[in-house]
Amino acid sequence: MEAKVIKIVFIGDIVGSVGRKALKTMMPRLKQKYANAIFIANGENAAAGRGITAAIAKEFYELGIHGITLGNHTWDQKDIFDFIDQEEKMIRPANFPPGTPGRGSTVIKVKDQELLLINLQGRTFLPAIDCPFRKVDEILAQSKKKYKFVFVDFHAEATSEKIAMGWHLDGKVSAVVGTHTHVQTHDQRVLPQGTAYLTDVGMVGPRDGILGMERTAVLQKFKTQLPVRFVTDEGKWHFHAVVIDLNDQTGQASTIQLIRYDEDHVFLD
Ligand SMILES: [Fe+2]
Ligand SMILES: [Fe+2]
Repeated sequence: MEAKVIKIVFIGDIVGSVGRKALKTMMPRLKQKYANAIFIANGENAAAGRGITAAIAKEFYELGIHGITLGNHTWDQKDIFDFIDQEEKMIRPANFPPGTPGRGSTVIKVKDQELLLINLQGRTFLPAIDCPFRKVDEILAQSKKKYKFVFVDFHAEATSEKIAMGWHLDGKVSAVVGTHTHVQTHDQRVLPQGTAYLTDVGMVGPRDGILGMERTAVLQKFKTQLPVRFVTDEGKWHFHAVVIDLNDQTGQASTIQLIRYDEDHVFLD
């Protein structure tokens, strides 16, 4: 039997209202271009750059997002504690300490496909949480049935830690992609054992700020080291994502391609 292709589109950190506007603009186009894909997005900055609300999550699902991952901004909106336990399709890093609300992995069902989605967070230049390497091994060992399609969002700062995770999981999962730095890297590849890898997907949101934040405040901070309040930038957006093709017989990746749009131009189509 000829193998079918399962497509996953993963959209990087969506920042604030400009990022949400970009998602709303791009989703119809992406759903057309990547028909039947599983759509996953990182939502840790969706509410004015800090965390996510129940209303925003609902908006994402209505646009066609099947699963949401988070990161170090998970707890920034106090309402998160009211709804994260009920959110089956939204996950926060799995290696947060035991007893933390929410879940670190979930199964996303799209048509007849099931995808095990895992969120992890790095420890280099980020809070000292549990070991992401041991945690992911634990999740893979404990998942009752073997999932053929496993997708990991590794939310981390250091490129070395992310590349290390890619190699750690090569052959064990379908894809490892990084989030958190908000800058798309160009090192997409399929590792030798069939795991798609990318160090960072990049962000969706204000194009002319600094990582999505209004730039004069960020510049002020760098220049003076005084306390400064950062706000999300306004203006035009850019949109970064990645599309991965998986072999439906083996769960292994065959290709990984970058997606990059700008409100004014299409860089790569
Ligand atoms: Fe982020
Ligand atoms: Fe982050």
